[in-house]
Amino acid sequence: MEELFNLCWLTLQRNIRSFMFTVIILTLGMIVFMLNGLPSEYDKIYFDQFPASFRFGIATASYQVEGGASHRGKNIWDTFSHTPGNIEDGSTGDDACDSFRNYETDVKNVAALGLDFYRFSISWSRLIPTGVISEGISEAGLDYYHKLLNKLEEEKIEAMVTLYHWDLPQKLQDYGGWTNVSLAERFQEYADLCFKSFGPKVKRWITFNEPRETSLGGYEIGYMAPGYKLHGTGTYNTSYTILRAHAAAYRLYAERYRNLQFGEVGITLNCDWAQPVDNSVANRDAADRFLQWYIGIWAHPILLGDYPSVIKETVKTKTNAKGFRKSRLPEFSQDEVDYIKGTFDFLGLNSYTTRMVQFKQCQDEEDHYNCDQDLKAFADPTWPTSGSSWLRPVPWGIRKLLSQRWIKHQYPNYREIIVTENGVSDRPESVTLCDQPRVNFFQNYLNNVLMAIRIDEVNVVGYTAWSLMDNFEWAHGYTERFGLFWTSFDRPDKLRTMKSSGLFYKKIVEARGFPNKQTLLDWLDEVDTY
Ligand SMILES: *[C@@H]1O[C@H](CO)[C@@H](O)[C@H](O)[C@H]1NC(C)=O
Ligand SMILES: *[C@@H]1O[C@H](CO)[C@@H](O)[C@H](O)[C@H]1NC(C)=O
Repeated sequence: MEELFNLCWLTLQRNIRSFMFTVIILTLGMIVFMLNGLPSEYDKIYFDQFPASFRFGIATASYQVEGGASHRGKNIWDTFSHTPGNIEDGSTGDDACDSFRNYETDVKNVAALGLDFYRFSISWSRLIPTGVISEGISEAGLDYYHKLLNKLEEEKIEAMVTLYHWDLPQKLQDYGGWTNVSLAERFQEYADLCFKSFGPKVKRWITFNEPRETSLGGYEIGYMAPGYKLHGTGTYNTSYTILRAHAAAYRLYAERYRNLQFGEVGITLNCDWAQPVDNSVANRDAADRFLQWYIGIWAHPILLGDYPSVIKETVKTKTNAKGFRKSRLPEFSQDEVDYIKGTFDFLGLNSYTTRMVQFKQCQDEEDHYNCDQDLKAFADPTWPTSGSSWLRPVPWGIRKLLSQRWIKHQYPNYREIIVTENGVSDRPESVTLCDQPRVNFFQNYLNNVLMAIRIDEVNVVGYTAWSLMDNFEWAHGYTERFGLFWTSFDRPDKLRTMKSSGLFYKKIVEARGFPNKQTLLDWLDEVDTY
């Protein structure tokens, strides 16, 4: 008994000693902790600058900001937005931000952020009211873009100009829109007018913005203008004409304008990162198919030649299984493959979010671009949300997409990448200038772009925030806001006011990156109390 008691006593003493030891360690830990601040997400930030030649900009698109609808020819978004039921809040882009009158303010605001370039788009029907050049050109339209470009020149801001950001002249839609192969020629004539008129003032041209959305949203599913539902053929059919139109504009510039104007021509493709749910071959292949159908269908013909073979084979097999004689995917002749291949000086990339991807055999009876991929794509429920159902902030996704995990590996000849859009939406109930989630979004996405450059050695040469100000967000009207400036749509002057995110972006641009933790924390303090 006594032995047992002694043993217990000894154990207790030892335990008291180790208990005291633990208390001392914890106290020391607390002191160190209090002196250094919280170990936090900021310890994951990669501190460095972007390369000296890196360019920062911000973007808008004609139909989303211009307004001034009565001063131009009608386009497909006029028709679509004026059709009841198509736009969430029943609104239209008739007035939008009225950049038709406020373009000087827009340029001043770009300058206030200290940016190197402004990405905007030209409204085809503002220059050529019917879209057919032989039917007439609008001098007032030419004048509008000259004034905008002159103002940019005055402020020493480079122009990055998109030729097609979704607003096709209505007359060309009446001819079938992008299902009509002759539109490649109409587009080349329009591009010719733009190069000839504005080329000396434009450093970079983007032929098409997100052709995937035009084809899939406009012709296959129908949630965007012109609202066609050509299931199984809409995307493939229109990709053929759009790729030819892109190449026609690129080749025209290369042959006739490049030696005089010294600009560059590229295309802007959009893509989400696809994260396989696990490491199995079936799920990794499914994630790869997601990316091939999303961006490969456009990038492969332009960078490497022809559609990706996985798409050609799959669509042919699925078509045969259904007993069709002909594949739903158009076939390029060798001449057409050669004509489209190599038509890029840079690759524009818009990326906002990520999807988890899992193999899933598609059982749909109906042919469909989505069904052809045999997969299920979804958001991880732990990811934060935003003002848009499709947009879940996943900052590491953009780095994986850019790096050897995908684009750098798939297209070793990619030359230069410019992130031509990246940003996040919200749906505030009242005026909200302190947009903390957007500050956080830009901090983490820009930092991942920086890591793609510095660690993964991807040649990203520019970054473009979307968007300069809140604007007409397509089928969601004015319900979703993406701006770094708040737009007061209820005021006749459509007043713009800088948000916290604008101030934060300006800090990064000024410092050309992320100098150190203390500076970042100081910026965040300043932005918080803005
Ligand atoms: C295709 O477009 C051209 C104009 O580019 C038009 O003349 C022709 O009639 C259109 N074809 C069809 C089938 O509508
Ligand atoms: C696309 O569809 C239209 C209308 O059905 C057809 O006239 C055209 O030939 C198709 N284009 C291609 C490239 O298959």
